[in-house]
Amino acid sequence: GEYFLTLAIESSCDETSAAVLKNGRQVLSNIISSQIDVHKKFGGVVPEVASRKHVENIDIVIEKALEEAGVTLKDIDHIGVTYGPGLVGALLVGVSTAKAMAYALNIPLVGVNHIEGHICANYIEHKELEPPFLCLIVSGGHTHLVHVKNYGNYDILGRTRDDAVGEAFDKVARAMGLGYPGGPIIDRLAKNGDAEAIEFPRVYLEPESFDFSFSGLKSAVLNYLNSQRQKGLEIKEEDVAASFQAAVVEVLVHKAIKAAKLKNLNTIVLAGGVAANSGLRESLYKEAKKEGIYLKHPSIKLCTDNAAMIGCAAYYNYMNGFISDLYLNAIPNLKL
Ligand code: KG4
Ligand code: ZN
Repeated sequence: GEYFLTLAIESSCDETSAAVLKNGRQVLSNIISSQIDVHKKFGGVVPEVASRKHVENIDIVIEKALEEAGVTLKDIDHIGVTYGPGLVGALLVGVSTAKAMAYALNIPLVGVNHIEGHICANYIEHKELEPPFLCLIVSGGHTHLVHVKNYGNYDILGRTRDDAVGEAFDKVARAMGLGYPGGPIIDRLAKNGDAEAIEFPRVYLEPESFDFSFSGLKSAVLNYLNSQRQKGLEIKEEDVAASFQAAVVEVLVHKAIKAAKLKNLNTIVLAGGVAANSGLRESLYKEAKKEGIYLKHPSIKLCTDNAAMIGCAAYYNYMNGFISDLYLNAIPNLKL
């Protein structure tokens, strides 16, 4: 047809999602079925439960995506699917579905790296955005500082050596009994807290390193909570949230700005669920402005897991000549 239509599927963690995109960057539909309520009572994602829920939801989500886009299966030009990183059982549901559909429809299949999808969410949000730029990917599973040199061409400058940022938010929230996922709750509490109330460590590692480490900070918060409880002292949730968040944000902002300057990049792009964090956005915006660097981030819906971002990545992969075969497998620890 006159347009190039992508059908995309995402099932790497706890959202079952399908989307239809026109020419890679225009979202015709982006249906997300969240399992958060199912996993909430366990305080985190239960892999077996996630796989089952994906199986129950995936056909419905795909049908809705086609319907909302006003297209039928025979209009679709290719299928993009997340094949890693993520939970293996959850990934397999999307991968198997995509393979079956690509085979039945006789159209190309494109496997997508989930982390690349998070970066591409920004191409959907910002139609004028073009590489090169610096991307700070902060999600529940990943923390990467990436020099995006071109579409599909990435240079990883740094990554976390232990916990991902979102993981630290979720673990701290859990220890405070705040519920799952903890990131948005801490974000909200932090707005009414004193960021200087409690002194938590800022871990910068070696001076030249763009790597991160958040497990020490997480432990420091847990130790603080335990010690307050043991002493029978009050825990001011807002202050803990604000002080923890400030420690995370300070290191992220410092390294992102430093990397952008080193690589001579005038744009920093945020990606992943933690890109929704208001403290991170505000602080990075302020510091970037001082250096004459632009900051861009996706809207909240495109920050967290969704199939539209996977479809955009699939489009550029396809245009770069990358096509998967029907042996495509789920790779839980897939690297960018
Ligand atoms: O990108 P995402 O949906 O899933 C992964 O690929 O990991 O990210 C989910 C993570 C969770 O850890 C959640 O707590 C965190 O993003 N998150 C936030 C906020 N909104 C979501 N963290 C801090 N502040 C927020 N406003
Ligand atoms: Zn994600």
